[in-house]
Amino acid sequence: MIELSTVKLPSPDMNKLLAHLLVKRKSIRKYGKDSVDLTTLSQLLWYTYGLIDGKRRVVPSAGATYPVEVYVVVKNVVGLEPGIYKYNEYNHTLELVKQGDYSRELARACLDQSWVRNAVLNIVLVARYEKTTGWYGERGFRYIYMEAGHIGQNIYLAAAEMGLGTVAVGAFNDEEVLGLLGLGEEYIALYVFPIGKPP
Ligand SMILES: Cc1cc2nc3c(=O)[nH]c(=O)nc-3n(C[C@H](O)[C@H](O)[C@H](O)COP(=O)(O)O)c2cc1C
Repeated sequence: MIELSTVKLPSPDMNKLLAHLLVKRKSIRKYGKDSVDLTTLSQLLWYTYGLIDGKRRVVPSAGATYPVEVYVVVKNVVGLEPGIYKYNEYNHTLELVKQGDYSRELARACLDQSWVRNAVLNIVLVARYEKTTGWYGERGFRYIYMEAGHIGQNIYLAAAEMGLGTVAVGAFNDEEVLGLLGLGEEYIALYVFPIGKPP
């Protein structure tokens, strides 16, 4: 007998585009040697924190404060020198912070997680927290972490769509990650997403 308090739901439609991507989404920690190109990185960054109509973005943000900044630690991207770049979402450009392959240093800051070192690039999410805590006080930190979750899911789904591998990395030394990007204590480090083509 069916319990009165239990409602049987219709089966989810697994043929929807989003259903396919969610089924495909998983953490991938092994990458081959193949590079990605600038077009792929461009699409990936827009999915991460891009602007839609010059104002609204691909993710929600508490009070539309948008405290997150997106950095890319590039090792092997065709058409781009290895280096650390900041994504400028307002004009969809990359701004060079420093030249060179810093994937080894980033991996060390991430407690020697080899997938960070082996990725062709790493997306690093940080937040200038005052943009949100200035409005919401201590509760603003919670909102920033929630926003990072929204962004992280976008990256996972983007990777699933584009045939790339990624994994959310939250285990790292905060000061070392910020130091590598040249950022001070007005920032918090949120997430690292290594990206690579599965072998
Ligand atoms: C907040 C957070 C932090 C995580 N940190 C790490 C990490 O430092 N290293 C790692 O390899 N995976 C990390 N993961 C990935 C989880 O291990 C992974 O999502 C989980 O095992 C479920 O597997 P799935 O993503 O394939 O479904 C993290 C995931 C989340 C949500």
